[in-house]
Amino acid sequence: MKKVFFALIVLAVAGCARQHNSSLEEKVESTLSRMTLEEKVAMTHAQSKFSSAGVPRLGIPELWHTDGPHGIRPEVLWDDWDQAGWTNDSCTAFPALINLAATWNREMSALYGDCIGQEARYRKKDILLGPGVNICRTPLGGRTFEYMGEDPYLASALVVPYVKGVQQNGVAACVKHFAVNNQEMRRTATNSVVDDRTMYEIYLPAFKAAVQEGGAWAIMGSYNLWNGEFNCHNHRLLNDILKGEWGFDGVVISDWGGCREDDAAITGGLDIEMGTWTNGLRGAASNGYDEYHLANPYLERLRDGRATEEVLNDKVRRILRTVYRTSMSETPHYGSFTSPEHFQAARDIAADGIVLLKNDGALPLNPSKGSKVLLIGENAYKMMVVGGGSSNLKTKYEVIPLDALREAFDGKADVVWERGYVGDTTTVYNRVVTGQVLKDSRSPEKLLQDAVSAAKEADYVIYIGGLNKSFYQDNEGTDRFDITLPYCQNELIDALAEVTPNLIVVNISGSPVAMPWAGKVNAIVQAWYGGSESGHALADVLTGKVNPSGKLPFTMPLATADGPLKSPRQYPGVQEEGKEWWQEYYTEGIFVGYRWYDTNGIAVQYPFGHGLSYTSFEISDARVKKSGKGFKVSATLINTGERAGAEVVQLYIRDSEASVERPSKELKGFEKVYLEPGESRRLEFSIDPDALSFFDADAHRWVAEPGEFHALLGTSSADIRADIPFML
Ligand code: BGC
Repeated sequence: MKKVFFALIVLAVAGCARQHNSSLEEKVESTLSRMTLEEKVAMTHAQSKFSSAGVPRLGIPELWHTDGPHGIRPEVLWDDWDQAGWTNDSCTAFPALINLAATWNREMSALYGDCIGQEARYRKKDILLGPGVNICRTPLGGRTFEYMGEDPYLASALVVPYVKGVQQNGVAACVKHFAVNNQEMRRTATNSVVDDRTMYEIYLPAFKAAVQEGGAWAIMGSYNLWNGEFNCHNHRLLNDILKGEWGFDGVVISDWGGCREDDAAITGGLDIEMGTWTNGLRGAASNGYDEYHLANPYLERLRDGRATEEVLNDKVRRILRTVYRTSMSETPHYGSFTSPEHFQAARDIAADGIVLLKNDGALPLNPSKGSKVLLIGENAYKMMVVGGGSSNLKTKYEVIPLDALREAFDGKADVVWERGYVGDTTTVYNRVVTGQVLKDSRSPEKLLQDAVSAAKEADYVIYIGGLNKSFYQDNEGTDRFDITLPYCQNELIDALAEVTPNLIVVNISGSPVAMPWAGKVNAIVQAWYGGSESGHALADVLTGKVNPSGKLPFTMPLATADGPLKSPRQYPGVQEEGKEWWQEYYTEGIFVGYRWYDTNGIAVQYPFGHGLSYTSFEISDARVKKSGKGFKVSATLINTGERAGAEVVQLYIRDSEASVERPSKELKGFEKVYLEPGESRRLEFSIDPDALSFFDADAHRWVAEPGEFHALLGTSSADIRADIPFML
């Protein structure tokens, strides 16, 4: 009886959902049927930097787009990148997505998505240009800080709650940059040559999860080409895979200026062409939106029969669907902006993702009364929300580490700062200003000398350096040249380690850096661009108010050359005779990140998934049992230390023998668990056959080969605490 009742409810709910969908489709069809050809074409391209037309005659609103992905971009001028100077658009700056990835926390991702969705809705934005989920293929990639790390499972797990969180506010998440946009160098002129297995196993899963599990309403094509076609109108990628195989019913938007050809723009799966300059990628007369590929050239083709209205209607249906899902949604949404809850969320997420890489007991820091705490390094002072490219934000405030630590140790210790080096002195981006003055006339030698002398006098020394968002660092449009810290920071840290017996190093960056001094310092913290509350979040972790629980979302290698990219053919690409674009061959295939280092036994500085705590955990009693078509893996986690804290238990799978090359392990599950001292919890992970499969490109399907597998449970990809073989 109970079962029948339950079944009826399920049917009723399914019926409602269908009704809702069909009413959405009815509205779309009804509107479409009343539109002229010109009105339809007007919707398929930009009308300003960040908007595309509605149908004024029918009361259909324009679509307003905004970057994304770390906060709501300030209003810009109609036809220029500079901020427009509004005084009501200073947002909450959330941590960079790499910081979110380092939380390994699905709840944090849901919170992030919900908060940023509310901010977008309040600012009357319909499409949030984010999140970004391109895999970190090279540690040099300029936008690693805007993405979610090197592993497709981790990125998939975290993108889904973000997308749902945004969209529950009536704002479309536009997942970017589809696909294989793994570098910034020559991003608009590089053909990424990637085989199907590599695409399906490494570079596509996070997009697929965003679409199928997250229900993403929008996707942004990337600038580069995949196997010879520009991705903003790559027929195979957009029509066959995204809209065909995955059943995506939302809208495909070009990256700004990423649409490159008239005919392909029409048939290649693109729905809205957005632009960088006024005419695609080229500079042109201002307000040249009529010249876009999907503007007048499209109209001409429709009128003379070279293009069909059927294809146009499909684009317009998708655009209308987006309008009815967002600004015209039946459930009204109003959002909220810069609320205390949003800043608190930013602080919690930032702190949850800070990674304790090394600690010999120097942390948490509890200075004795009247002591002197010396901070050294530009990043203790420099504001980081401004800059970096399209993720540049104007925020209501940004707490720097120096101020946060002064606040934390108020009345207890004297916190002073020495710069140590001069890195990036810019304080303006697209006319957004930080208000800081960063000029310093001291020579590099003098800066180093001053820092070393001050360190000799201090009771505690915390070095806070790393990268910033200037060109050739964590920045859109350029990659780094190598992973060495810039501005002679290695020399400075070495010099400090000589004179102080207790040195804590905080590296603030959005991508991996080499740490040749790791053995000489007492503690190392990896912090990220934490947004408005970054200083507070860092202070929370350094003082122990928050017990660190972040985990590296990428491998921290010893040197760039240790990685899988060995030749210019692989990265950054080569010019070949007779070929118009730079060619880049992903011949390392699926061996990216820890899949490369682990399988080949190459030593790294810190492995993927690594991160310590102020308490300790044990994993015990691990088991695997058959369950339906798959398996259940279970184990007990216990907090064996004296502080409450969280551990991320990671499940990797190894295939003992396969007919194709497979990595020595692959992440297939994780759970972040918060435990009081002495508390324990039994954890269970489901392994379905997909988790045991590889992608067979010839057969175009996932294959799980019978035989022995291993379930590896650990606290990083290198710290495996239980290894249980099982048979499929
Ligand atoms: C970036 C996108 C961004 C767009 C709009 C492009 O240059 O690649 O990520 O959303 O500009 O600012």
